[in-house]
Amino acid sequence: VQVPVYVVLLHYPIQNRRGDIVATSVTNLDIHDISRTACTYGAKRLFMVTPIEDQHRLVNRVLEHWSSEGAQKWHRDRSEAISLVQLAHSFDEVKAEIEKETGTCPEVVLTDARSLPKSVSYREYRKELEERQEGSPPLALVLGTGWGVASEFYPEVDRILDPIYGPTGEKGYNHLSVRAAAAAIMDRLFGQ
Ligand SMILES: C[S@@+](CC[C@H](N)C(=O)[O-])C[C@H]1O[C@@H](n2cnc3c(N)ncnc32)[C@H](O)[C@@H]1O
Repeated sequence: VQVPVYVVLLHYPIQNRRGDIVATSVTNLDIHDISRTACTYGAKRLFMVTPIEDQHRLVNRVLEHWSSEGAQKWHRDRSEAISLVQLAHSFDEVKAEIEKETGTCPEVVLTDARSLPKSVSYREYRKELEERQEGSPPLALVLGTGWGVASEFYPEVDRILDPIYGPTGEKGYNHLSVRAAAAAIMDRLFGQ
């Protein structure tokens, strides 16, 4: 059974370099690159979550640009991917939207470059997903920005995926851009 997947890019609540909780700014590259990845790996939607109205206005301008007739004609692949993007003010709004669409609350899966307790390996979680039965909850795959998702968000989380490491493992550098992480994560979970 193919579980419906919703990708969520959180801009709040996020940690900054000092460990404060902040709202980060939306990055235009994230809209373009993560929506293409989401589209390639069959996600239903890419939610960009920010409580800041100014950011909504800015992102809406970008979305409107890429949904114009001209863009659809001349940049069809790009506008198809960007059509998956939906703005939300909060994660509550995301959950409500997913529930409205699927009839079920999502299983919330957090990704992080840091090692967090009780995380699950990609191999194990992919196997679990492949064995899911009809009517299983949809997935909300949560990606962070800034210095990562703040611990204030953890009560929302059902599952945590292991960090991705390179050849030198947990002692090595593993600070991927969220765009690169999104591609690696979706390929590990949903790639053929
Ligand atoms: C903390 S943000 C970094 C944002 C950064 N300013 C950028 O260039 O994208 C990166 C997000 O990508 C994901 N990520 C990055 N590196 C990762 C890794 N090694 N393993 C798992 N997820 C990772 C996590 O969702 C993390 O919250």
